[in-house]
Amino acid sequence: MNLFDVYPINNINIVKGQGSYVWDDKNVKYLDMYGGHAVLSIGHGNPHWVKRIEDQLNKIAFYSNSVKIPIQQQLAEKLGKISGKEEYQLFLCNSGAEANENALKLASFHNGRKKIVAFTKSFHGRTSLAVATTDNPNIVAPVNETDNVVFLQFNDEDALQEYFNNHGKEISSVIVEGIQGVGGINIANESFLKKIRSLCDEYQAVFIADEVQCGYGRSGKFFCIDHAEVNADIYTMAKGMGNGFAVGGLIIAPHVKPKHFLLGTTFGGNHLACAAALAVLEVIESGKLMENAKTVGNHIMNELENIPELKNVRGKGLMIGFDVPEELKDLKKNLLWTHHIFTGDAKPNVIRLLPSLALTKEDANVFLKSIKEEIKILVPSLKPANQE
Ligand SMILES: Cc1ncc(COP(=O)(O)O)c(C=O)c1O
Repeated sequence: MNLFDVYPINNINIVKGQGSYVWDDKNVKYLDMYGGHAVLSIGHGNPHWVKRIEDQLNKIAFYSNSVKIPIQQQLAEKLGKISGKEEYQLFLCNSGAEANENALKLASFHNGRKKIVAFTKSFHGRTSLAVATTDNPNIVAPVNETDNVVFLQFNDEDALQEYFNNHGKEISSVIVEGIQGVGGINIANESFLKKIRSLCDEYQAVFIADEVQCGYGRSGKFFCIDHAEVNADIYTMAKGMGNGFAVGGLIIAPHVKPKHFLLGTTFGGNHLACAAALAVLEVIESGKLMENAKTVGNHIMNELENIPELKNVRGKGLMIGFDVPEELKDLKKNLLWTHHIFTGDAKPNVIRLLPSLALTKEDANVFLKSIKEEIKILVPSLKPANQE
């Protein structure tokens, strides 16, 4: 049987990982500035994370949500404490799309409405409502198309105000990323997030913060929208939550009430996933990884801003993007194949950095040295053409 060929892959077989590094089957060492797509929050093979999972595996790996699972409550308590959202409620699932799917559905159950406001360049996942709120027609199947979702311009407060003026009473929820990841590292303005909050309050719509990529400490604060000092009604989480173990979740404001059978999942909140997620929070806390993300992220951004060939350096913490001009179109490829550094990208010409929150300044400097070297190699060779 062949694999269903949907991923354009690099011909590299990763067999080992430690901290911010991975090794392939030929023992070539790579610096992981991509974090396996923002997933490796605490780094590869963290010993505390491995031990927590091993210990849990030796007791029980899974039982269904038909019985008490005390480790879920431990996770909820730890998450409440670290995020400052102790009064919120936790629902556990398995992925980012599932978290958003449940959030959008829960909002609709809560206020009985159907309309969802999403924004240009958004990405919320590939399942039915999650993909319907994703601004990419190429991944929306005909069956996912719906009139219930409207896309407004990201960061356009006037457009948002106008839409609420005309349709406020029909709007169930507004879903937004604090920093758009797949869309190219676009930061939501603080005043835009405040506007969403006030309009949702005025019209009893549900504010959903999609923190799947930008959350969980990556921006230097636990939730990315914390920078704007606003609260969402629902926060969705996944990627960094399990450091590679599949786990996702929603945290839900107290005024949104649960009811038996309203939401559900077979695997969500299983013992092993909770052990992985608890280990991640323990390491984020003990290693002061949010502070580290801020310090090392600022260091990277300051250095990148001094490279004139790179345009529009932006981001928060360890979620960083910059535009690559045409002359440097091979930069990402060469970083990988010549310097053995993984980075991410976004269309049309953005390089995205999403490394582990435990990335050290020394590791960051390895990346910075390589990118400067590579730009020197790529740019002079094109100078004559530019001068023509
Ligand atoms: C902001 C955001 N939301 C949702 C998702 C979907 O997450 P998953 O791939 O775990 O379903 C992603 C994945 O990239 C994402 O970046």
